[in-house]
Amino acid sequence: MITIQDILYVRYGAPDLDRMEEFLTAFGLIRADRTDRTLYMRGASSSPYLHVTDLTAEPQAKSFALLAKDEDDVERLAAELGLAAEWNPEPAGGRMVRFKDPSGFDVTVLAGIRQVAALSPLSPAPGNFGMERLRKGSGVKRPRGPAEVLRLGHALLRCDSLEQSFRFYTETLGFKVSDSLYAGENLVGHFMHCGLGQTFTDHHTIAIVKRPASQFDHAGFEVLDLENVLAGNDYLMSKDYEHDWGIGRHTEGSQIFDYWRDPFGNKIEHWTDGDLVNDDYQPGRAMVRPEGPVQWGPPIPQSSFR
Ligand SMILES: [Fe+2]
Repeated sequence: MITIQDILYVRYGAPDLDRMEEFLTAFGLIRADRTDRTLYMRGASSSPYLHVTDLTAEPQAKSFALLAKDEDDVERLAAELGLAAEWNPEPAGGRMVRFKDPSGFDVTVLAGIRQVAALSPLSPAPGNFGMERLRKGSGVKRPRGPAEVLRLGHALLRCDSLEQSFRFYTETLGFKVSDSLYAGENLVGHFMHCGLGQTFTDHHTIAIVKRPASQFDHAGFEVLDLENVLAGNDYLMSKDYEHDWGIGRHTEGSQIFDYWRDPFGNKIEHWTDGDLVNDDYQPGRAMVRPEGPVQWGPPIPQSSFR
């Protein structure tokens, strides 16, 4: 077993890279690289890119990449899976192994990638909230524009083989359960964090839910703060992109969230203020509810399940 450290990027196929880039720029990502066939978009963090699109005839959610601790772990994982590790020919570089998980998702595990210089965010201005008055003698100037996306936080997978996927992610890739999801007495999903011992990490880096057919549900990108969720919503609305669900606060993980659809129908999320857990976290039992995983905010629309 190895221990995955984080999620690196998600990978899609689309028939029009210009349309994808235009949407992702409005969403708050920045072009890192582009070839005739592939678009690489980054956030403000030091990850070389968070979102990759290959030019394909039909839209598709293709795969995602996870970060291993080092190249030795990539080799160990490859050996455990009976595969050969490869050098990554793409801009991030590093050593990688590629495989299908038990529910059929294409996964790349990478290490030794080239980091890039982090970008310093525009905001936040010091706030004057409640008991904390930090901004004195000046105003807030935030130009209308995209949210500031920092990093990719998680992927949610609809799995046709929940049990096998759960065993694979926990027993081969080192994930730990944060909360498990039940419909009545039936176990229907798991939110899993990277098993980093005492180090705090996102409540979920990979979440899996049981479905008759496997399908990539969404990728969740962390934005700088609450204002960036709100300003990002305003900006994407002004561009007439398709809103999916939000704004609200999730139950499992507590994120303040806002979901969108890219021009090819892929669901994509802005979030902020998520829970951090470590391996001392006591796994919880969550229930599926008709309004969806939301503490406040609109109920999940039927269209979000397509
Ligand atoms: Fe999410």
